[in-house]
This record gives sequence, structure tokens and C-alpha cells, in this order.
Amino acid sequence: MSTDKRILLIVAGGIAAYKTLELIRRLKERNVAVRCVLTRAGAQFVTPLSLAAISGDTVYDDLFSLTAEAEMGHIELSRDADLLVVAPATADILAKMAGGIADDLATTLLLATDKPVLVAPAMNVRMWEHPATRANIGTLATRGVMRVGPGVGDMACGEFGEGRMAEPDEILGAIEAYFRGDAAVMTPSQGAPDRPRPLSGRRALVTSGPTHEAIDPVRYIANRSSGKQGHAIARALADLGANTTLVSGPTGLADPPGVTVVHVVSAREMLEACRNALPVDVAVCAAAVADWRTSDEAVQKIKKNGGGPRTLELVENPDILRTLSLADNMRPGLLIGFAAETEKVVAHAKAKRKKKGADWMLANDVSPGSGTFGGDRNVIHLLDDGGVEDWPPMSKEAVARRLAERIAAHFTDAS
Ligand code: CTP
Repeated sequence: MSTDKRILLIVAGGIAAYKTLELIRRLKERNVAVRCVLTRAGAQFVTPLSLAAISGDTVYDDLFSLTAEAEMGHIELSRDADLLVVAPATADILAKMAGGIADDLATTLLLATDKPVLVAPAMNVRMWEHPATRANIGTLATRGVMRVGPGVGDMACGEFGEGRMAEPDEILGAIEAYFRGDAAVMTPSQGAPDRPRPLSGRRALVTSGPTHEAIDPVRYIANRSSGKQGHAIARALADLGANTTLVSGPTGLADPPGVTVVHVVSAREMLEACRNALPVDVAVCAAAVADWRTSDEAVQKIKKNGGGPRTLELVENPDILRTLSLADNMRPGLLIGFAAETEKVVAHAKAKRKKKGADWMLANDVSPGSGTFGGDRNVIHLLDDGGVEDWPPMSKEAVARRLAERIAAHFTDAS
């Protein structure tokens, strides 16, 4: 990179602000002059002193600072730079940029500048995916604002997904590419943020929810599964581009967008619908299939008729996961099951993986104290040929996104 470049780095308020110290250090190594503007929220995450020490320049953080105005007005601050970089670019600062709001030094500079701007977004995945942020990114793109990232991964908030600020190396790469006149970086992205779709061209099958096994026309055997985990997985796979079929037992959930949903009631119907969905590249059996049904479903409502205790004779339901594993040339390329356990979670899941012929088993604790069944969070241990991977506690949606990413990586590695 040419040594006479000057960058005005705007540091907004996000946990990723600490990464900007490394970015500045790398830019300085290349003899690029970096001057920092720190927002009020940014100062909660990184101190003006550390930015000043690493950049070797004054840090500007107050629009109305008389000293700053006397030394260098805000117009001069941006006039003096070859490129403005906003890192981390929070949902808030992107919204202000898109809306033309100038209520502090950073946003005033961004509104007043005629210099190119590169943003490195950083925020929670839900904020990144929110239609408001998408619209703002689209607006900024049409105005020529360049963007690097965000990436996909674990976030400080415990979620997993798109929204992590690009690493300092990536931001440096984007800055270097800009100064080289690299068209790919200089072309603003169009409209909504680009989603990586590594599973496009792949077919996925997901089972979800409980099954209901009729005893008579008004009674049934069921369990406490909500379907939240399976539905979130179907959505996450579709989000990554997979052509996804969700076979769902009775739940109170809305059909996930972009997914073909087949509604079933009983285990046998679920098996039939799964068979019809084959062949698939990946199947995730997240349903809590009822293990038993009555041997003889009564056609009419069973009457009490007084007398002693009644007995229900139960027969075992087909095991859908095991049936898929034995489906010869129709066996899904990657077969994933869940092991719902209330004790010895990993040990039981290991045995279950073998018994059912699954490639991966996601073990989770469903004991009453865990809050897994019906709740919004889950603690997963992923078992495969290589051993056990312990995931931190996270929301069921974060589990779904992490699993979908891992499935995508599996196919990328295999090809
Ligand atoms: N499963 C299935 N069909 C069944 C029962 C279970 O496809 N009839 C799948 C579940 O979707 C899950 C895995 O098998 O992916 C393990 O389910 P789980 O309820 O943990 O185990 P069970 O087979 O019911 O064994 P157990 O009740 O002895 O723990």
C-alpha cells in the first residue's frame, strides 16, 4: 500500500471495537496515517487513550469541543483523509448514515464528507437480518458506500450467525484493495446484504415436533416437544440455500418461510412423508416421535363403564431415523439425529448414534430442570466419528444456525 495514505477511522459502539486497535496497528505497520473519531458509545468499549497511543494522533470524540474545532474543524477532519472507515459500524450508525442524521461528530463527518466510505458492520444476527438494517444497507450501497463483512460465527451475545465484524486482516485487505483500485471492492453491494448460500443445490429433510398417537377419536398419546428446535433448523438450512422439506407433527408454530412443510399427526404418517421426501443430501431428525401407539385404535370414544383399571396395549412405532439409515441407496448423505436424555446424556447419545446408524448425534438434556422441552434454549453435545464437541448454552435458533453452518462446511470439505 502507498505510504502517503490517510484514513479517518470512526469507531462506533460495539464489542468488536477492540479489534480496531489491531487494525490501526496493522495500518501503521504499512505507514498509513490513521486518525480516530470515537463515538460516545464507542468509548464504552475502547478508551481514547489506547486509540491515541496506537494511532499516534489526537482522538476526536466531541462535536462541540472548542479545542478540536479550533485545531481542526469537522470538515477538515474528513477533507484530510483519503478514505473514511467505520469499524465497528453498528446498526445505529448505519441507520443514521442512511437517514442523514448528524447528531455527533462521527455522523456529522459522515454526512459532510465527499470522501469514499467503507463500513465494517458488527451487530447481533437478528439486528443484521432486520428489514430496517437491510433497507439501510441497501440505501448506503446505492450511494456507493463500500462494505466489508460481516462474517458468520459466535457472537459476544451468545448467538451464532451473520453479524460478526470482519477480522482486522479482512478490513485491511478491503482497504488495500480499495487503494489498488480493485473493482470488486469498489463496486457497492446491491440492496440487501448478500447471504452466503453454501447449501444451494442441496436437498434437506427435517422432522420436527411431537407425534400424536390416537387412542380413540378424542384421546391421544403425545409428549412435550414444542417443535421450536426442528423448525429453527429447517429455516436455517433454507436460509443457507438448501431446498428444505420440513415434516412436522402437531405444533403451535407458524410454517418457516422458504420451506416446504408437510403436516402430519402420527409417527407412521411422519415416516411416510419422510420416505416421500427422499432422496436428500442431509436429514435432521429433530422430532420427538412417540415411541408407542395403541395396538388397536378405538373407532368410537372409549367409555368408562365403571369397573376396575383399564389397560392400553401398546406397540412400538417405526423408528424414522433408523429407517432412513437403512434406506440403502436412498440413505441421506448426512444423517443427523437428536438424543433427548434425562441422565448420562453423552453416554446414552453415543450408544444411540450407533444403534440408529446416524452420522451425527446432537445430545441434549431434556430433564425437567433443563427447560429444553418447550423452552427457547438448548445445550448441545455434538457426537460424530471424531468424538464429542460441547457447545455453549445458546438459543435454539443459534443452535440451528450453528448446525446449518456445520452441515454446509461438511459438504464443502467433502467436495
Ligand atoms: N426417532 C425417530 N423415530 C422414532 C423415535 C426416535 O426418528 N420412533 C429419532 C428422533 O427424532 C431422534 C432420535 O431418534 O433424532 C432419538 O430420539 P430419542 O427420543 O432421544 O430416543 P428414542 O429412540 O426414543 O430412545 P429412548 O426413548 O430409549 O431414549
